[in-house]
Amino acid sequence: MTDRRIVIKAALGCGIGAMLPELTLAQNDPRNARPQVGDRLVFADGDQKGALITLEALRVGGQPVTAIPKDAASGVVRDGSRLNQILLVRLDPARLQGDTAERAAQGVVAYSAVCTHTGCDSFSWTPEKQSYKCPCHDSEFDPADGAKVIGGPAPRRLPALPVKVIDGQLVVAGVFTGRVGATAN
Ligand code: FES
Repeated sequence: MTDRRIVIKAALGCGIGAMLPELTLAQNDPRNARPQVGDRLVFADGDQKGALITLEALRVGGQPVTAIPKDAASGVVRDGSRLNQILLVRLDPARLQGDTAERAAQGVVAYSAVCTHTGCDSFSWTPEKQSYKCPCHDSEFDPADGAKVIGGPAPRRLPALPVKVIDGQLVVAGVFTGRVGATAN
C-alpha cells in the first residue's frame, strides 16, 4: 500500500513538474500581459485589425471600438488573452464624471471588454443612452461615469483603463482600475 502511494505521488509530482515550464512560459509571454503604460492601442478586429487607433478614428458619440494593446518597443500585440480586450469610446468631455474625466483623453474613455457578470465579451452600444449593453443577460454600463452598472445583474463596474493621446494615437496611461473578468473567475 505504501509503495502504491509513493508511486502515485511520484507520478503526480512528475506531471505537475512537467507542466511548470509551460505555465511559467505562458505567464512570461508578453502577449498575455495586461496593458502596460506606454502601450499603443490597435484595432482588435474588422478591416483595420492591427492598425493603430488614432483620435481621429473615433467620432464623438459614435460607435465604440474594441482595442488590443501593443508594446510600442517590441511591436508585440497582447492578444494572448481575451482579458486584454478594451472597449474604447469617445464621448463629449463635458459629460464625463469625476475620476472618469481624469482617466480620459480628449473625451476618449477605455474599459475592460469583459463583462463582470459571467464574462461575455461582446457588447452592443445604445446611442440614445450612450451606454454599453452586454447581450448575455442585459447588463448596462455608463462609460461617462466609470462604467457603473445602470441595469442588469452585473455585480460591479467594468474596470477602467487610463489613456492619453500622443502624436494623435491612443496610448495606455495606467493599469486597469480593478480585476478584469467575471466575478466568479
Ligand atoms: S455576462 Fe454580461 S450580463 Fe451576464
